[in-house]
Amino acid sequence: MNSSVFSFLSDFVFLLLLFIQIPSSLSNDDRYTACRKDFVCGGGIPVGFPFWGNGRPSACGIPELELKCDHEKNITTMNINKVAYRVLEINPEFKTLWIAREDYLAGLCPPQFPSSTFNPKILEPVEGIRNFTLIYGCEDAPKTIPGPRTFNCKIKDVDGQSGYIKEGVNGPGECNRSVIVPVSDFPPWNTPVFEWNVETLKGQLKTGFVVRWKVNMDLCGECSTSGGVCGIVNDTNQTTCHCPDQSSGSKPCAPPAPTPIPPPGMHSPPEISL
Ligand SMILES: *[C@@H]1O[C@H](CO)[C@@H](O)[C@H](O)[C@H]1NC(C)=O
Ligand SMILES: *[C@@H]1O[C@H](CO)[C@@H](O)[C@H](O)[C@H]1NC(C)=O
Ligand SMILES: *[C@@H]1O[C@H](CO)[C@@H](O)[C@H](O)[C@H]1NC(C)=O
Ligand SMILES: *[C@@H]1O[C@H](CO)[C@@H](O)[C@H](O)[C@H]1NC(C)=O
Ligand SMILES: *[C@@H]1O[C@H](CO)[C@@H](O)[C@H](O)[C@H]1NC(C)=O
Repeated sequence: MNSSVFSFLSDFVFLLLLFIQIPSSLSNDDRYTACRKDFVCGGGIPVGFPFWGNGRPSACGIPELELKCDHEKNITTMNINKVAYRVLEINPEFKTLWIAREDYLAGLCPPQFPSSTFNPKILEPVEGIRNFTLIYGCEDAPKTIPGPRTFNCKIKDVDGQSGYIKEGVNGPGECNRSVIVPVSDFPPWNTPVFEWNVETLKGQLKTGFVVRWKVNMDLCGECSTSGGVCGIVNDTNQTTCHCPDQSSGSKPCAPPAPTPIPPPGMHSPPEISL
């Protein structure tokens, strides 16, 4: 757990202690209550496990799947292997995320050059994704590259300003820098007569592409039915079920102990003994 989340948690617990008198045995780590709150950004669909962030502590999701919310613009973003993505849609049923690179929403001339990569244990691009390479810092684009597939960028610390795009190549070749970006094969890109070029690539980068998360969520249906909420085990990052009684484990929550019904005329016992 990172320290800012940890300090958030301890602040949270401190505030709880200030305002509510709860027994100290419950106060140290209420992951159940924290993880029951979904991530919400603007009018978007609320999402829970395997995501965390924006008030959901890291115990509520997979470390790689932190969501951020820009509350002024109601935009959800996330970083994947040091690249920032705009989150356009999350579909828990199909376990898919529709994302677009933030840097290429504004055009093809980014200040940095990270390629898009994914931890194959966590995320995989869905079928129908093509890898395009943007090549920067050329003295001149190679003669074999058609004009519509070339562009110009004035970039600090890079001499040549000419660039070009090519499908499925690694590295910048004669030029200075290269970036590999996934592009979806949505129509009209999948039609045989379609001619892709810099303009259509810019459009497709804004459209984004779909990745699927491979997190094991088998436990989560039963966990939820039993009154719990999915999260992770702090040390192992494994999916776990956080329960209302503050226990966590790889099984659904145990049913609550039956509360004794007081005989008529007697006061019911205090809910929580101090
Ligand atoms: C979670 O694990 C990290 C190290 O992996 C540790 O620093 C942190 O204190 C743990 N948090 C809790 C609540 O156990
Ligand atoms: C953001 O979403 C909230 C809640 O749906 C809404 O009240 C607000 O007007 C939205 N702000 C913008 C800039 O869209
Ligand atoms: C695109 O690149 C990714 C990551 O480098 C790779 O896993 C994937 O197989 C590539 N896709 C195609 C169609 O080449
Ligand atoms: C790119 O250009 C800069 C500035 O000329 C140079 O320092 C750097 O080594 C070049 N990098 C590559 C990969 O050619
Ligand atoms: C859990 O995830 C964190 C962050 O990605 C990583 O540093 C740590 O090694 C992982 N722990 C295990 C046991 O996989």
